[in-house]
Amino acid sequence: MLTATDPRLDADLARCEGLLHTSVQCPGNPFLTAVADHLFMAGGKRLRPMLALLAARFGDPGRPDVIRAAAVVELLHVASLYHDDVMDQATLRRGVPSVNAGWGNRVAVLAGDYLVARAAELAVPLGHAAVMAQSEALRRLVQGQLNETVGAAGTDPEEHYLRVVADKTAALFVLAVRLGAHAAGVPDGRIEALAAYAEAVGIGFQLCDDVLDITAPSDRSGKPAGADVRAGLRTLPVLRALRGGRGSRRLRWALAAGAVGEGIAGRRTMTLLRRSPGLADARAEVARYAANAQAALQALPESAARQALDEFSAAMVRRAQA
Ligand code: FPP
Ligand code: MG
Repeated sequence: MLTATDPRLDADLARCEGLLHTSVQCPGNPFLTAVADHLFMAGGKRLRPMLALLAARFGDPGRPDVIRAAAVVELLHVASLYHDDVMDQATLRRGVPSVNAGWGNRVAVLAGDYLVARAAELAVPLGHAAVMAQSEALRRLVQGQLNETVGAAGTDPEEHYLRVVADKTAALFVLAVRLGAHAAGVPDGRIEALAAYAEAVGIGFQLCDDVLDITAPSDRSGKPAGADVRAGLRTLPVLRALRGGRGSRRLRWALAAGAVGEGIAGRRTMTLLRRSPGLADARAEVARYAANAQAALQALPESAARQALDEFSAAMVRRAQA
C-alpha cells in the first residue's frame, strides 16, 4: 500500500521499529513487555509511521524527533486496537490471536492503557503543540468509538457513520502527519494541507476497510471476514445496500432475523451484500475521498513524498475495487 522506495525512508522506518520495541519494554515486568509487544511483533503495515515520515519530507526529515513522532502514533494506534478487539470480541488481528483472545479482556485493556502511557512519555520532548495534537486525536478516537457503540439514535445514519469514521480512523492519520511535519519544522500552511489530505484519506481508508469486510477473505485481510456485519455494524456499504436496489428487501429481512453467522443463512446475507448496488456505491465513495485527498496535496510542492502520498490514495481505491 504505502511502500518505501527511498532508502532513507527504509532506514527511518527501521529506526522507528527499533524505538517501538524499546518503548514497550517494561523493566522488571517481562509479562507486560510480552503482552505489549505482541501486536508489534505480529507485523502490520506501519502506515501511520510512514505517513509521519512522508509528512516530515516537507521540512527537515533528518531532525531526531521525526522518528519519535512516527513511533508515538503507532503506539497509540496499536493501543486502540487492543481496546477495539476487546469491544469487538475479536479473535484474530494481524494474522495472530488478538491480545484478548490470548490473555483475556482485562489484560488486553490494561496493556492498551500501558501503550497509551508509553506514547505520552515518548511525546513529551515533541513539545506543547504535539502533545495538544495527541490529546485531540485521542479524544476523537474515544468519541468515534463511543458514537459507534451507542449508534445513530434518531440522527441520520449515514451522517452518523461518516462522523464515526472520521473520528475513529482519520483522527490518527491527521495526528501522524501533524506530528511528523511538526517534528521536521514544516511550515504551518503545509501542515494544514497535509492534515486535510490525512482527514480525507483516513475516511477513505476506513470505508475501504468496510468494503473489504464484505468482499475479502480472512487470509487477505488478516481478520475474520464479515466481522462487522456479524457485529451488527451498519457500515456505509450496508447502509447503502439497505437503501434500495437489488436484494435490498431480502437483506433487510435477513439482518432483522440475525442471519449473520457462519451458517448457510449468514453466507446468503454476505452474498446479498456482495451483489448489492450498495457495495458499488461505497467503492465510489472511497474514490471520492481519494480525489479529495489528492486535491489537498496540490497545495504542497511537487516531490517524491507528495507522489508517494498521492499513490497511497490511488492504491486505496484499487484495493476497494479488488
Ligand atoms: C478499529 O475499527 C478501531 C479503531 C479505528 C479505533 C478504536 C478506538 C478505541 C477503542 C478508543 C479507545 C482508544 C484508546 C487508545 C484509549 P474497526 O473495528 O472498524 O476495524 P477493525 O476491522 O480493524 O477491527
Ligand atoms: Mg474492530
